[in-house]
Amino acid sequence: MRRRYPRLPPLPRAKPRGLLPLLPLLLCLLLPCLLASQDSGPERDAWQRPAEVMDALGLGPDMSVADVGSGDGYFTFHLAARVGPAGKVYAVDIDEGELKKIRRRAKADGLGQIETVLGARGDPRLPAESVDVALIVNAYHEMRDYDAMLAGVFRALKPGGVFGLIEAEDEPGKSRASYHDRHRMPAEVVREDAARAGFRFLREAPGFERPEGRKEFYFLVFEKPQDISAVIPSP
Ligand SMILES: C[S@@+](CC[C@H](N)C(=O)[O-])C[C@H]1O[C@@H](n2cnc3c(N)ncnc32)[C@H](O)[C@@H]1O
Repeated sequence: MRRRYPRLPPLPRAKPRGLLPLLPLLLCLLLPCLLASQDSGPERDAWQRPAEVMDALGLGPDMSVADVGSGDGYFTFHLAARVGPAGKVYAVDIDEGELKKIRRRAKADGLGQIETVLGARGDPRLPAESVDVALIVNAYHEMRDYDAMLAGVFRALKPGGVFGLIEAEDEPGKSRASYHDRHRMPAEVVREDAARAGFRFLREAPGFERPEGRKEFYFLVFEKPQDISAVIPSP
């Protein structure tokens, strides 16, 4: 005879929830890519307007230029395209890993005008009077030996050479360490530093707004005077 079992209540059906529970994980995986895209490629071109930056610095074919604090070379490659094969681009960084990425891409793209330079914390290690233009983008706040770095940039520029500095704005009156930590630096502090190094302030060019975090950057343009004896007294 067949045994009879009591009928069990049906199990509750799991609601279809799709990818919702995986959303935090997906965001963690995608976030670095989303942030990186803000710092390179066409996404960055849209807000950084590199052609306008190079126009403001008067950079043209066959000229020589230094990208100091180059990182992985967002500007380096724009600069190389502008100066062309007969020009010269020094990409300076203290992070050899970043320079390696630049060398790899420069080799693949046949850009012999790019030379990487492993700088020191207080010395861009560029040849004296070798560049027409120098550029520091979103890196000055990291330069703890800022006076020495600006002295090195000044030395590397030819007389009459142009120096552009792009940095995120901050309130004045804070410590250097806090600017370093906040990845920002007041424009007036940069102007004081540059004047101390012997640069002449030329103008403030239109700035930039990075959509990610709505971070605002200013763009200062300086010049190394033709006659530096007036600004740097001879020893
Ligand atoms: C935030 S990244 C900016 C990179 C690049 N300029 C850009 O806009 O994409 C700052 C870079 O400055 C470099 N840096 C910091 N201090 C430096 C120094 N004293 N000399 C040269 N590079 C420096 C860092 O290694 C880093 O690669």
